[in-house]
Amino acid sequence: MRESCRAQFDIAEALFECPKCGDLLDVRYDWSRAALPRRLSDFEAKWAAQADPLAFSGVWRFHELIPFADRGRIITLGEGRTILQKADKVAPYVGLAAGRLFLQYEGLNPSGSFKDNGMTAAFTHARLVGATRAVCASTGNTSASVALYSAAWGRIPAVVLVGSGKIAYGKLAQALDFGARVVQVRGDFDVCMKRVKEVAKELKIYLMNSLNPFRLEGQKTIMYRILEGLRWEVPDWLVVPGGNLGNSSAFGKAFKELHEIGLIPRMPRIAVVNAAGADTLYRVVREEKIAWNGGRADDDRIAAFYRQMDAENRRAATLASAIEINRPVNLKKCLRAIAWTGGTVEKVTDQEILDAKAQVGAGGFGCEPASAAGVAGARKLRAAGVIGPTDRVVCVLTGHALKDPHATVAYHTLTDAQLAEEYKAYGVRSAARANHPVVVEDDLEKILAAVQA
Ligand code: F0G
Repeated sequence: MRESCRAQFDIAEALFECPKCGDLLDVRYDWSRAALPRRLSDFEAKWAAQADPLAFSGVWRFHELIPFADRGRIITLGEGRTILQKADKVAPYVGLAAGRLFLQYEGLNPSGSFKDNGMTAAFTHARLVGATRAVCASTGNTSASVALYSAAWGRIPAVVLVGSGKIAYGKLAQALDFGARVVQVRGDFDVCMKRVKEVAKELKIYLMNSLNPFRLEGQKTIMYRILEGLRWEVPDWLVVPGGNLGNSSAFGKAFKELHEIGLIPRMPRIAVVNAAGADTLYRVVREEKIAWNGGRADDDRIAAFYRQMDAENRRAATLASAIEINRPVNLKKCLRAIAWTGGTVEKVTDQEILDAKAQVGAGGFGCEPASAAGVAGARKLRAAGVIGPTDRVVCVLTGHALKDPHATVAYHTLTDAQLAEEYKAYGVRSAARANHPVVVEDDLEKILAAVQA
């Protein structure tokens, strides 16, 4: 994707960085040869064809917009049947009127996170290139998704590298239960990411991380479904938590393509929200002022930024473990998405994340901590006037509430003093929105009193 490189490769190759310039790779289509719909609402014809697994899938329902594989080669588990909720109970928290805030619940995917959108596409590509094994590094959700697709498809065994003690229990449980080989590396995600590239190269194993551009093709469909949920109207803002920056990159590409093809009249703006303890994107964009710059982002300054980070021995630390990442592999693609959409970056503390999470839970289906970062970020951007009072805003809730029950139970059951002790490394001091359980004796009078309280 470097402006000066322009090398092209066949999709039958399994490449995860450009062999010529070493930069990220993009999937490009010749739209003049694609069977595109005349308007987005034409996709509604698929709603009546659910006996077809491709129409049933919320990803492949949009096959015409991700046309890299023939129908017969696609590996699908019925992913992407997720809900866009008009979140009137959460809207006041964000600072918006009823009808202006929407939450996209990607936790409702088969493995409980948005990753399945990308994994169906990456497994399909893995099958196309004849891969016999899959590998990923993960903060948890990617490993759960890879393990699920590997188990359900049954022909591509999976190995996952996770930081030992670094991933939430729900996610570890999934990878173990689905039978993947789980390698717990003594280190964090950034260490695992570096190593997994070496492992993939050395052993010629297909890489399932979002460095893989086919992952991002699947993740584009989250945006198509949001448009579908809004009856094909473009929202003003899309707010998404930023970790390895695959989602934000994919979302920017989705809208850019739709705009170029002429299927949407304008672009929405994308806001990417970092956890304050893992704020590389925030620093790069808001402090270093490094921008996409038409494909000439300053690689030397990015390299200098990382050198400085290493010199200060700064390591990502947030209880939103899914986004505890210091070296996001898709940094430049995300800069591009921000440039394309007139987007922005925000950061929020772990305290803000947990408070927002409780608010999302009280308003409906709930989410894991990383997902709530988006909602907390929307609130902050609204308070700063960046998001306007009448803007229509969609926050993407990336993972299911049950992925990380530990954080939820701690928030709702501990006293503030206990919580501050439990999470002192993360600066959490209180649980303003806690829903404390009531403990009573086995005594009907007392139980009745507790029920009525
Ligand atoms: N939210 C959740 C629940 C995630 O699991 C992740 C990333 C993100 C947000 C950030 O998304 O990387 O596209 O910016 N999880 C990866 C993993 C890194 O290994 O499961 P991103």
